[in-house]
Amino acid sequence: MKKDIYILGIETSCDETAAAIVKNGREIVANVVASQIESHKRFGGVVPEIASRHHVEQITIVIEEALRRADLTMETIDGIAVTEGPGLVGALLIGVNAAKALAFASQKPLVPVHHIAGHIYANRLVTEFTFPLLALVVSGGHTELVYMKEHGHYEVIGETRDDAAGEAYDKVARTLHMPYPGGPHIDRLAHEGKPTIDLPRAWLEEGSYDFSFSGLKSAVINTVHNAEQRGETIAPEDLAASFQASVVDVLVRKTQRAVAEYGVKQLLVAGGVAANKGLRGALEAAFANTAVELVIPPLSLCTDNAAMIAAAGSIMYEKGVRADLDLNAIPGLEIETYNDDE
Ligand code: KG4
Ligand code: ZN
Repeated sequence: MKKDIYILGIETSCDETAAAIVKNGREIVANVVASQIESHKRFGGVVPEIASRHHVEQITIVIEEALRRADLTMETIDGIAVTEGPGLVGALLIGVNAAKALAFASQKPLVPVHHIAGHIYANRLVTEFTFPLLALVVSGGHTELVYMKEHGHYEVIGETRDDAAGEAYDKVARTLHMPYPGGPHIDRLAHEGKPTIDLPRAWLEEGSYDFSFSGLKSAVINTVHNAEQRGETIAPEDLAASFQASVVDVLVRKTQRAVAEYGVKQLLVAGGVAANKGLRGALEAAFANTAVELVIPPLSLCTDNAAMIAAAGSIMYEKGVRADLDLNAIPGLEIETYNDDE
C-alpha cells in the first residue's frame, strides 16, 4: 500500500495569513485562514506594511492551529509548501521565512509554490483534473487564461494588459463608496439592478486572449462624475449590473473561444472573482450542454487560503521540486518557472 503524503501549506502573499494540511494532494485535513481585511478596510485597500506586521503576529499561531486541528505533529508531515510569489514582497517573506525555519528545524523538504498555481489547484480539492484543461484565473492581482497539458505545467495563453478583474471591481466599488474588498458588494448590488447603462467591452485584436479592464473602470468612474456634475443621480444598482455584465461578457466569451480552440476537457475557474455569482451563473449557462466539465471551487477555496498552496505543493513534491534554505520571495514570479521544459 502506498504511504499517505501529508503536505503543510503556508500562504502570506497578500492579506490572509494561512496554513493548511492536505493529504495525498486532494484531501483537506486542516485549513486555517486569519484574515486581515478589517485592518485594511479603513484605508480602502491593502497596506503592505500593515499586512507584514499582521503576518508576523499570526504566522506561528496559524501553523500551530493547523497541526492541532489535523491532530498531527511535524513528524508526520512529508513536505512544507510555501508561496514563493507573486505578491507583496514583505508579506511573502514572512511565510517563506517561517517555512524555512520549520523545514530546517524538522528536517523536512521545502517546496516552492506559485500563488496562481495554488488558485488553480484549489479545484483539485473538489475534482480530479482531466487533461488537457484550461483555467480561467480571476483574482485581485491576475486575470489569465492558463492552458495545462499535464500536472504542474502551465502555459499562459492570455492575460490582462492593465487592471485585473478583481482590481477593477475594487476600484468601481470605491467610486460607489463601498468598503474594501468591493467585489462581493458590487456582485450583490448587481443582482438588484439592470444593465441599462452602455459600457465598453475591450475585445482587443482579433484572436487575442488578453484582457483589459482599465477602460471599463474609467468609463464607470466618468459616468458617476458626469452625473454628479449635472446634478443627476444614477441608480448604483444599475451601474453595478452594467459593469458586471461587461466584465462577465468578456470573460465568458474569451474563455468559450479558448476552450474550443484548445479542445480542452475541463474548465477550471480560480481566484477571488470566481466567487462572483454573475460569473458563475454565466459560465454554468455557457457550458451546460457541452462536453467540457466546468469546475468552480466553493467560495472558501476561491479566495486566498493555504489548502490550495498545499494542493499545488503536493504535485511539486511528487515531481521532486525542492527549494534550498536560501529560498527568497519573488514578487513578480512567473507561473511557467517550474515547467519541465523551461
Ligand atoms: O484571489 P484573491 O483572494 O486575492 C488575490 O490573490 O488577488 O482575490 C481577491 C479579489 C478582490 O479583488 C475581491 O474584490 C474579489 O476577489 N472578489 C470578488 C468577489 N469576491 C471576491 N469579485 C467579484 N465578485 C465577488 N463575489
Ligand atoms: Zn490570490
